[in-house]
Amino acid sequence: MPKLIYNAITQTIINELITILGARYVIYDDPEKLEPYSHDEITEKAYAHMPDVVVKPRTAGEIAQIMKLANREKIPVTPRGAGSGLSGGAVPVFGGILMSFERMNDILDIDRDNMIAVVEPGVITNDLNNKLKDDGLWFAGYPMSLESCYICGNVAENAGGGKAVKYGVTDRYIIGLEVVTPEGEIIHLGGKIVKNVVGYDLIKLMVGSEGTLGIFTGITIKLQPLPTEKVDLLVPFRDAEAAIKMVPTILTNGRIIPTAIEFMDQLSFRTSYRYLNEHLPHEDAGAMLLIEVDGNNMEQLEKEYETIGELCLENGALDVFVADNVTTQERVWSIRRNIAEAFMVYSPVQSLEDIVVPVANIPKILPELKTLSNKYNVLIPCYGHAGDGNLHATIVKKPEMDIGDWNECLPKILFDLYDKTVALGGTISGEHGIGHKRKKFLDQALEPATIELMKRIKQSFDPNYILNPGKIFDK
Ligand code: LAC
Ligand code: ZN
Repeated sequence: MPKLIYNAITQTIINELITILGARYVIYDDPEKLEPYSHDEITEKAYAHMPDVVVKPRTAGEIAQIMKLANREKIPVTPRGAGSGLSGGAVPVFGGILMSFERMNDILDIDRDNMIAVVEPGVITNDLNNKLKDDGLWFAGYPMSLESCYICGNVAENAGGGKAVKYGVTDRYIIGLEVVTPEGEIIHLGGKIVKNVVGYDLIKLMVGSEGTLGIFTGITIKLQPLPTEKVDLLVPFRDAEAAIKMVPTILTNGRIIPTAIEFMDQLSFRTSYRYLNEHLPHEDAGAMLLIEVDGNNMEQLEKEYETIGELCLENGALDVFVADNVTTQERVWSIRRNIAEAFMVYSPVQSLEDIVVPVANIPKILPELKTLSNKYNVLIPCYGHAGDGNLHATIVKKPEMDIGDWNECLPKILFDLYDKTVALGGTISGEHGIGHKRKKFLDQALEPATIELMKRIKQSFDPNYILNPGKIFDK
């Protein structure tokens, strides 16, 4: 990382922050309280960095004042949602100010007639959906960490998740933003309108900008009617290849767009079973698919899931379990949702990846993972959003491997993995982002002229390079 010259946080700056926010909301000189803000969900300590001070603003006005101060004093500011990210995007790699939105957690407006919600950045995704239930509405573009993630983080990362096959990802639903710019101006983009072609689409640019272009203080979300019915199929397959080959087949031969098609190889579902103390038949299956269909007409859904089930049975499925009530559905989704967490507990020396390829190429990825795992003598369990071509290949150190060898090997494995992915028409991150974890691999995914253009965009938004520096690319 090139050395960027930032100024140290002095007592005078702390005093100014306290004047803006009040002493209670400025944390410094207290390593125990600062530590939780030094990392996200990545287990590797190498990606963590302590902030000098944590600030907890309540309003856009306070944030604007902090950004003006940070520009004047050349101090880095790192915005942070719930810290559930997986690319180090919210880690203050240059220290300085860490800005947490934990106090900005009001749902400002649920506008049923327009099917729109307006929220503050620190609203937990599931809190919004729980609130919307009675109105028969929901926010459909959320990630797997829905019980903890903040909506601002979803927007910053353009989070995907388990329902994207049918509903797409976060950016489909964000139609308005209040943003504090890196220079401390408060701007308003879009609104409660679903069509808008006035000027450049800065909302689309902001969504997925990983906290490097602006700070979201108000988020306007297009809602969807909540389907009244859903059915999940848990389908064990003899081997992983047969399961993954089913994915494009369901979409084409089935003539159905399911809500979700999730894949779990044997090591993945077994690790989650162990973590949850779960036991289901066919624990010796090579892999499982978790397929969801939803809608308002049960008869129609029955037809759809029967078609999918039959296709699976014709193509190597050992069985088809139908989960048609909330308790069983929660049980099967919990297995899938907890895989990442389970691997973090049992295999903390790991690199959780989220490569993405065109769906038709998804069967070609598993053999590549096998080759890499043999070449480097590591485990590469794999699970994820197969229906989007988005897989969480997780590179795991075997216990007998020396940690020095692992540290030397990992960048080579990642390089090879990304190389194979890009060769299949894919890219290096489908939902977790570049952050500072993947920035040294960015040129595998983007052309030099594209990276240059992105750097110029960053420069025009943030001339002093103080907002979330060290992410996506170096200055
Ligand atoms: C998941 C996270 C790791 O899909 O993206 O479980
Ligand atoms: Zn995921």
